[in-house]
Amino acid sequence: MKTFNDKNILITGGSSGIGKALITEFYKEGARNIAVVGRDEGKMKDLKSEFPEAKFTFIQADVSKPKDITKIASKIKNEWDHLDILINNAGVVSAGALDDISDEDIIAQQNINTTGLILLTKHSLPMLKKSKDAAIINVSSGLGLIGMPFYATYAATKAAVKQFSEAMRRELKDFPIHVMTVYPTATDTPMMKTASSKDMDTPELVAEKTMKGLKNEEIDVILGGEERIENNKENFKNPLAFDKKVNSMYDSMKERASKHRSM
Ligand SMILES: NC(=O)c1ccc[n+]([C@@H]2O[C@H](COP(=O)([O-])OP(=O)(O)OC[C@H]3O[C@@H](n4cnc5c(N)ncnc54)[C@H](OP(=O)(O)O)[C@@H]3O)[C@@H](O)[C@H]2O)c1
Repeated sequence: MKTFNDKNILITGGSSGIGKALITEFYKEGARNIAVVGRDEGKMKDLKSEFPEAKFTFIQADVSKPKDITKIASKIKNEWDHLDILINNAGVVSAGALDDISDEDIIAQQNINTTGLILLTKHSLPMLKKSKDAAIINVSSGLGLIGMPFYATYAATKAAVKQFSEAMRRELKDFPIHVMTVYPTATDTPMMKTASSKDMDTPELVAEKTMKGLKNEEIDVILGGEERIENNKENFKNPLAFDKKVNSMYDSMKERASKHRSM
């Protein structure tokens, strides 16, 4: 995909963090037709002053609710005759030892990060299939590639996104719909407020790499540099050896994750 000024874009979680940086990136490339999904309508409406030329459609909806998914799909159908880019970005985390996380937080992470993403993709497909040049961008996480202690549920939701993207790329081979997955590492957004650390990526960097990946028709955009790529390979080839590396961070991760919640 090379041009964006005529594209119809639907993004979940565009009011904050990585989603907002993605809107900035697409806007810079000339995109104007942008539908944004989020639970908090006020946060979405704040986007208007930052992107004065955008023709926004704000859809107050919770992606974990099937009836809200059909509401999003019908709003998009009323607004446009086709959809070019679906960005499944909305996500939440509730970390800590598994036996300390409430059942409600476990279910909500699955429903928002995975089931909502799958349902919205399903209900967007009829409109995406009407585009001559479409893309689905799914935001996973580095934790979807390497499972880390105290993030078992979150990692499971994000690994599911990886697998879903790969399967859909193959399923959609006869349509001009590029499927791409983004794997951010720790990024300085409101999601990390309760687990902030030094050396986090900026959301702008994630958005820039996503745009570059889309222009180059990459299937995976992995943040975290060469070290992360090497870790992924090492973990795949020799997970027991990688366990030792993870063990050395065990206590600090436990402490940090125990407070990490953004729901
Ligand atoms: N930040 C990181 O370190 C990091 C690392 C790896 C992956 N990621 C992934 O990147 C994506 C964006 O995260 P972020 O860091 O930008 O988080 P963020 O700043 O907390 O933003 C999350 C966005 O998702 C929306 N959202 C949350 N639950 C929703 C729901 N049920 N229905 C609709 N919208 C919902 C929020 O809006 P409302 O609250 O108004 O609904 C908000 O706009 C997530 O998928 C996250 O898992 C983040």
